[in-house]
Amino acid sequence: MQGSANLNIMIKAARKAGRSLVKDFREVENLQVGSKGPGDFVSKADMAAEEILRTELMDARPNYGWLGEESGETPGTDPTRRWIVDPLDGTTNFLHGLPHWAISIGLEHKGEIVAGVVFDAAKDEMFMAEKGSGAWLNDSQRLRVSGRTKMIESIFATGVPFAGSKYLPATLQDFARLMPVCAGVRRWGAASLDLAYVAAGRYDGYWERGLNAWDTAAGLIIAKEAGAMVEPIRDGQNVLEDGHVLVGAGGVFDQFAKIIRDRSDK
Ligand code: IPD
Ligand code: CA
Repeated sequence: MQGSANLNIMIKAARKAGRSLVKDFREVENLQVGSKGPGDFVSKADMAAEEILRTELMDARPNYGWLGEESGETPGTDPTRRWIVDPLDGTTNFLHGLPHWAISIGLEHKGEIVAGVVFDAAKDEMFMAEKGSGAWLNDSQRLRVSGRTKMIESIFATGVPFAGSKYLPATLQDFARLMPVCAGVRRWGAASLDLAYVAAGRYDGYWERGLNAWDTAAGLIIAKEAGAMVEPIRDGQNVLEDGHVLVGAGGVFDQFAKIIRDRSDK
């Protein structure tokens, strides 16, 4: 893929932060871990990765705004452009030594995501997209959503909210309706990779409630550019701001969406 200067900046930043995270992942037992709520941990590795990303991205584009999971929001002198960054999506996996986590970098322009990079550093898979240029895996592999049309052959993914989340009951009810009519439901614990996997045709659809913009910004454009349908769970919601996400391949999307929406409160 022939990317723009901005996409190349994002890829370089993701690779640099990825090297730091891979090193820390090998020593995960020695990391000092702080808690910011049940099931949601912050590690030193996470903060170090965000610092690397912030330095790389803001040095290259000092006038852009910034929204990072760990450091929050910093407005830029250019109010139309903003980096939206999750330095370590899948933190719980990382802390448990499960190699399924990613760096997620989205670039927003005038309220719309125009470029995204999701880097699975443990597997060396760089998912990327720019508006109008398609979605790619590691430069040379064009991504397309699956061509499946039968629910019974399709695999879906979601995130199960952790204990105490108000979305847990609705998600459990979704499982009860969806599981009997499809080939399986996966819960792998990194929303950015769930979206990238829909783009790659590995999953046929994905839904989740209550996500943050840093979980979804990059993955949403990758999924869209690979041909996925991307909608809020309820009419009138904004996917990026409200975080209620329904994504899937066109051949099963309507059937899948109907099942999730039939009983969804949110
Ligand atoms: C979480 C993961 C998980 C999703 C949660 C997110 P984190 O992000 O993406 O898959 O279910 O809603 O908060 O905490 O690992 O960066
Ligand atoms: Ca996240």
